[in-house]
Amino acid sequence: MKPAASLQRRLGLGLTLGITLLWLLATAGAGLVVQHELDEAFDSALEETAQRILPLAVLEIVNREEPRALQHIASLQAHKEYLTYLVRDNHGNTLLQSHDADLAVFNAQPLEGFTTTSSHRLYAASALRKTVFIEVAEPLAHRHEAAWGALQAFLLPLLLLIPLSLFGTWLLVRLSLRSVLAYRRAIETRGAGDLSPIKAARLPAEINPLADAVNHLMERLRRALEAERSFTANSAHELRTPLAATLAQVQRLRREIPEGPLQERATQIEASLRELARLSEKLMQLAKAEGGGLLSETPQDLLPLLAHVVEDLRRTAGGRLHLQLPSTEAVLTTIDPDAFAILLRNLIENAMKHGASDQPIEVSLSSTALLQVVNAGPLVPPALLAQLSERFVRGPGQAEGSGLGLAIAAAIAQGVGARLLLASPAPGKTDGFAVSVQFAPA
Ligand SMILES: Nc1ncnc2c1ncn2[C@@H]1O[C@H](COP(=O)(O)OP(=O)(O)OP(=O)(O)O)[C@@H](O)[C@H]1O
Ligand SMILES: [Mg+2]
Repeated sequence: MKPAASLQRRLGLGLTLGITLLWLLATAGAGLVVQHELDEAFDSALEETAQRILPLAVLEIVNREEPRALQHIASLQAHKEYLTYLVRDNHGNTLLQSHDADLAVFNAQPLEGFTTTSSHRLYAASALRKTVFIEVAEPLAHRHEAAWGALQAFLLPLLLLIPLSLFGTWLLVRLSLRSVLAYRRAIETRGAGDLSPIKAARLPAEINPLADAVNHLMERLRRALEAERSFTANSAHELRTPLAATLAQVQRLRREIPEGPLQERATQIEASLRELARLSEKLMQLAKAEGGGLLSETPQDLLPLLAHVVEDLRRTAGGRLHLQLPSTEAVLTTIDPDAFAILLRNLIENAMKHGASDQPIEVSLSSTALLQVVNAGPLVPPALLAQLSERFVRGPGQAEGSGLGLAIAAAIAQGVGARLLLASPAPGKTDGFAVSVQFAPA
C-alpha cells in the first residue's frame, strides 16, 4: 500500500508551485509592458536628440569655409556615448560625427525615420531639402539592459517568496491541524474496551462530521456489545435455576429406579445436565470478563486471593498443586478480586484437566505481579496454540469442556491491561504447557 500523503507537504508544494507560476506569468506580462513603454520612451529621446542637433549641425556646416570637410566633434569630457550621431550629405559623404561614432553601425545610405539593425536602433532626419541628413544611433544592448534591470526587480522577490510560502503553508496547516492531531491522540491513548464518546475540542468544520460519525459508530458498537453481553449473562442466569431443579429431579429419579438400562440412561442425562450447567456457568463468566468493571478502585493484594483459590482447588487436585509465592509482603495490582479468581480458577482447572495427571502443577506469583501456571503433558502444536484463547476452540485431548476457559482468561487479561502468554513446551522443559499473565503492578 502507498503511504498516505501528508496534507502539509501537498498543500505546501501545491500552493508554492501555484504562486511561483502565477508570479512568473505576471512578471512575463509586466516585462512585455515595460519593454513596450521603454521602447517608446527611448525612441522619443532618439527622435528628440536628432531634431535638436540637426539645426545646429546645419548651421555649423553652412558656416564652414570648406563645407565638405569632415569634422569630428571633440568631447568636452571623456565619457562613454550611448547615443552617437553622424551627419552626411545626400551622396553619403560624412560631414560631421560625434567622437565615438562607428560608421559600421549606420546604414550605407541614410534612411529617414526609425530603422533597427542587428545591434542598433537608428533614427534619421533631413534638412535643406534632403541634402543634409542626421542619423542618431543607440545600441540595442542599452535598451536590453534597462529591460533586464526591470525584470530582475520583479524576479528577486520570488527568491524570498518561495521559502516564505513553503514555510507559511507548513505553519498554517500545522496550526489548523493541531486539534485534529489532539483528536488522533485521544483515540490512540484510550484503552481497548473504552467505547465512550471521544470529546474533540474545536475541530475544523470539515473534520467535525467525521468525529460525530465516529462517536455514533462507537455508541452503536457499545450498545451492540452490551446487548450481546447482557443477553449471554441473562440467558445463563435464567438457565441456572431450572437446570439445578432438573438436575435434582434426575438425581432423585436415578436413586429410585432399579439397576439396569434405565439407570444407565438416567446417569447419562445427569451427566449432560451437569455439562449444561457448567457451560452456562462459563458463559456467565465470559459475559463478566468481556464486560466492564474488571478493575478495582483500590489496589488489591494478589497473595491472599491466590492462596484462597489454590486452597479451594486443592481439595479436588490433591497433592499435585504446588504454590510458589514471592518473599514480598504484598503484590499489588488493580484487578477486581472476582475477576482474578475467575481467571486463576480457569487456568488451574485447565492444568488439572488437560495436563499429565500424575505430574505436579506449579502455580507461582512473582513480586513483579507475574502469574504462572505450568503443567506437564503432551505438546500443543504452535498453530493450535495461537488459537486456543479464541472462544470454543479446544485441543485434541479427551477431557470434557466447552473451549471457553482460555477465552475467559484472555478477556479478563485484556480488560485489566495484563499480558497473557501461552507456551508449549513450558519454558525450560521439553513438554507441557505454561500460561503466564503479567499484571501491571499498582
Ligand atoms: N494447561 C493446559 N495443558 C494442556 N492443554 C491445555 C491447557 N490449557 C488449555 N489447554 C488446551 O486448550 C484448549 C482450550 O482450553 P479452554 O480452557 O479454552 O477450553 P476447555 O478447557 O477445553 O473447556 P472449558 O474451559 O470451557 O471447560 C483445551 O481444550 C486444551 O486442549
Ligand atoms: Mg478450560
